Amino acid sequence: MLPQEIIRKVRNRDKLTAEEIYFFINGMSKGEIADIQAASFSMAVFLNGLSEEETLALTCAMRDSGEQITWQDMDKGPIVDKHSTGGVGDKVSLMLAPMLAACGAFVPMIAGRGLGHTGGTLDKLEAIAGYTTTVDTQKFKQVVQKIGCAIIGQTADLAPADKKLYAIRDVCATVESIPLITASILAKKLAAGLQYLVMDIKCGNGAFMENKQSAIALAHSIARVANGAGTKTSALLTDMNSVLGSTVGNALEVKEAIDYLQGNKLNPRLNEVTMALCAELLTNSKVASSKAEAEQQLQHALSSGKAYQKFVEMAVSLGADKEIVENYVKSAPIAKYTKAVYAQQEGYVATIDTRTVGLGVIMLGGGRTTPEQKINYTTGFSEFCQIGDKVDKKTPLCYIHAEDEAIIKPVADMIHQAVKINPQPPKQTPVIIQKIA
Ligand code: URA
Repeated sequence: MLPQEIIRKVRNRDKLTAEEIYFFINGMSKGEIADIQAASFSMAVFLNGLSEEETLALTCAMRDSGEQITWQDMDKGPIVDKHSTGGVGDKVSLMLAPMLAACGAFVPMIAGRGLGHTGGTLDKLEAIAGYTTTVDTQKFKQVVQKIGCAIIGQTADLAPADKKLYAIRDVCATVESIPLITASILAKKLAAGLQYLVMDIKCGNGAFMENKQSAIALAHSIARVANGAGTKTSALLTDMNSVLGSTVGNALEVKEAIDYLQGNKLNPRLNEVTMALCAELLTNSKVASSKAEAEQQLQHALSSGKAYQKFVEMAVSLGADKEIVENYVKSAPIAKYTKAVYAQQEGYVATIDTRTVGLGVIMLGGGRTTPEQKINYTTGFSEFCQIGDKVDKKTPLCYIHAEDEAIIKPVADMIHQAVKINPQPPKQTPVIIQKIA
């Protein structure tokens, strides 16, 4: 087989066989296929797409490019996970993993860093001093078995073909392709040996998929391919036209998640998304026989303090100091400056340009502008307004947390641009848009 003939077939919209796809991905992993050929392949796929069978073969080839974690020795509960396509203020994983563990499921979560304007679970967890997201498979398995959940980063051995192709796509303008996103996300998830997966497909002005049609297409693609590869998967389409919860920024989001787990503060939309994704996994995996039973189990996991305990145990097992985790809400490092951004007129919050809010966090140093950049964990926004909030000139739209005083004014200007206020209250829209099985 010749790599250029495989690229030519995709270019000409001819179908590839599974053998051709495996040949290409294996060659890429071993360095026998040049980066320019991988780049051409990704652009041909971006422009012409792949069939469902081809996407399944691409996913399996990338999954098989590295180690695959097995859990045969563990029969105490189902192996489950959730993946979000990325949003602003999306700290669901921090609560979902310990909540599911408290209900008897096992959650080996391979999470990512911030991408574009969206935040990343790994960056949030690294805001807890000592928490290490780079552990080997043996340690990962050990923590999952002992605690019930572990959230870590992609190890060098897990789906290395995805690592390589993703880095190429990132600089070749071929990220936003449904077959390539499907294969990239699922290669890592399937290599983690999951039995059940729920996808949170974000849709709206703070998501990669802005319109409902493309979000639904991605949800169908991921659900079909994952089910085809043997992992029972469903997807929820959730709204990303406003910040999820009341904070954006790494340490601030950890505080909100811990507050939620401790039962102190509950943002209704964040709660609805978290509960729905958890319930989906508990019912699919038969830990609960109905959505109502799943919700009861989850409420108990929260009210008994068991979910919060699981979070503490997970963080401590992965290197964090117990005292630091338990006192996080009160004692975690805070930014040097905190400044309220007031509404400039009276009315109701009508729309929020959520992508701009995500970019605001990057401006504050809480996200990256270069791959190796060290980020500032304390910065971001708290008490962010919600769609429909009644505001006047004395009402903060949010508080900016900054380490550099000079950045506060330009970021406040961004917030004023992003938050539109109308005299009439807006129509409320549901946070869970649709389920795709
Ligand atoms: N996240 C991934 O892991 N891969 C993609 O292609 C897009 C988002």
